[in-house]
Amino acid sequence: MLGDMRTQVAIIGAGPAGLVLGQLLANAGVESVIVENRSRDYVEARQRAGVLEQGTVELLRENGVGQRLDREALRHDGIYLQWPGTRHHLDFPDLCGRSVWIYGQTEVVKDLVAARLTAGLPLYFDVSDTAVQDVETDRPSVAFLDADGNAQRIECDLIAGCDGFHGVTRPAIPESSSRTWQRDYPYGWLGILAQAPPSTDELIYAWHPNGFALNSMRSPTITRLYLQVGLDENVADWSDDRIWTELTTRLGHPEWELTTGPILDKGITPMRSFVSEPMRYGRLFLAGDAAHIVPPTGAKGLNLAVADAKLLADAVIASYGSARSGPRRARTLVGTADSVPPGPATSAGRGRGPGAARTLVGTAGSVRPGPATSAGGGQELLDAYPETALRRVWRCTHFSWWMTSMLHIEGRDPFARELQLAQLRYLSTSRAAAVSLAENYTGLPYGW
Ligand code: FAD
Ligand code: DHB
Repeated sequence: MLGDMRTQVAIIGAGPAGLVLGQLLANAGVESVIVENRSRDYVEARQRAGVLEQGTVELLRENGVGQRLDREALRHDGIYLQWPGTRHHLDFPDLCGRSVWIYGQTEVVKDLVAARLTAGLPLYFDVSDTAVQDVETDRPSVAFLDADGNAQRIECDLIAGCDGFHGVTRPAIPESSSRTWQRDYPYGWLGILAQAPPSTDELIYAWHPNGFALNSMRSPTITRLYLQVGLDENVADWSDDRIWTELTTRLGHPEWELTTGPILDKGITPMRSFVSEPMRYGRLFLAGDAAHIVPPTGAKGLNLAVADAKLLADAVIASYGSARSGPRRARTLVGTADSVPPGPATSAGRGRGPGAARTLVGTAGSVRPGPATSAGGGQELLDAYPETALRRVWRCTHFSWWMTSMLHIEGRDPFARELQLAQLRYLSTSRAAAVSLAENYTGLPYGW
């Protein structure tokens, strides 16, 4: 059975990028449908990032999904940089007037999914065979099989490719029209989640001759820790004892003790920098890991996905604004106590949205968006999205590469190690150097 539906923005992927985009659009009265090929349980349990920039936190709050975050997230006003014999604290509010929050990606995703389903907005889990169609025309669509195996098609104005690094949207851009940049690092991170109270008040980034280690956390009872490991390492070779011994060595510091506990989750992640251009092709717009990957050092991946979603949402909302009246503000927020009357808490729907569909600017009375070249205030933001987004992407790509290169051991080159230590000492003695780290770590303003 083929089901046809119509919406304004079809969003592929219910990770941070797709869910934030859907939330911002809904709050401005723009309709969207999200399709996700994993189950709700899976996306809500996938262990990934844990540090939210101040801008990410403010955006979630302003958009009606900050209540639990405000209750449970841990505000951190700095980090420790460590190398043998030294543990140096960087004070972010003093250096740049900003902070970060510890709140797992799992929790961000749970809050956004709950807000969307409570508002009765369409979100299809467990889909398969997702395909984008006719993105070069003004009638793009997304085809997929729903959880019951029924063929569905979403006709839309725009498609947002928020389907992560292994998704289907980036490959839909012809190779002849795209360009990629990639760096694979010769190491990965072994990450564990442990039932143990954090042994530190703020995160410790440790340089050690054995390799980098990071002491992070998720809550007052759960610790998250990472070890640099070789690319050929197998997680099965890392017993709990071996992991704790190595963490104790690399994170060791006089008069300080690492708290241990049962390990709840263990996994190895390879590290890569990757940027793909363009982030727009016809009516297809990419956001988040679908367009770029950063190595995790510095915690930019999730925050960058949210920043893309924010920039794209602003552009899409402006493009639907009436040329006469300007963008209309939504009266209610999805997910807040005073939100639109919720529909049934279903994981599927038929393009319902909290507001009426708007007309796109620059299309002479048509309800369909004009091509990339159309004039009009709103359309300009949409046209500018790839360039605006990529400016931040490259800044974060540089910061993540720099943090990674400074802290990880690569080969046996004594010259490289002295350079790393010189940079760490510089960060601990120069306010200018420390300010630069702090403003990048806590997040540059949107539209930077
Ligand atoms: P994703 O979170 O990948 O979401 C994309 C979604 O699209 C997924 O739910 C996927 O199932 C869905 N999808 C894929 N294909 C299709 C399809 N064909 N049809 C429908 N849906 C589809 N960042 C940090 O800052 N710190 C970390 O410690 C950290 N650790 C990480 C560990 C791992 C193992 C990985 C993979 C990433 C990690 N990251 C980390 C990066 C961070 O998690 C990502 O940058 C972030 O998830 C990007 O969000 P996104 O929404 O763009 O992509
Ligand atoms: C975490 C991950 C990071 O990449 C990072 O730089 C800091 C913390 C984390 O998962 O907690």
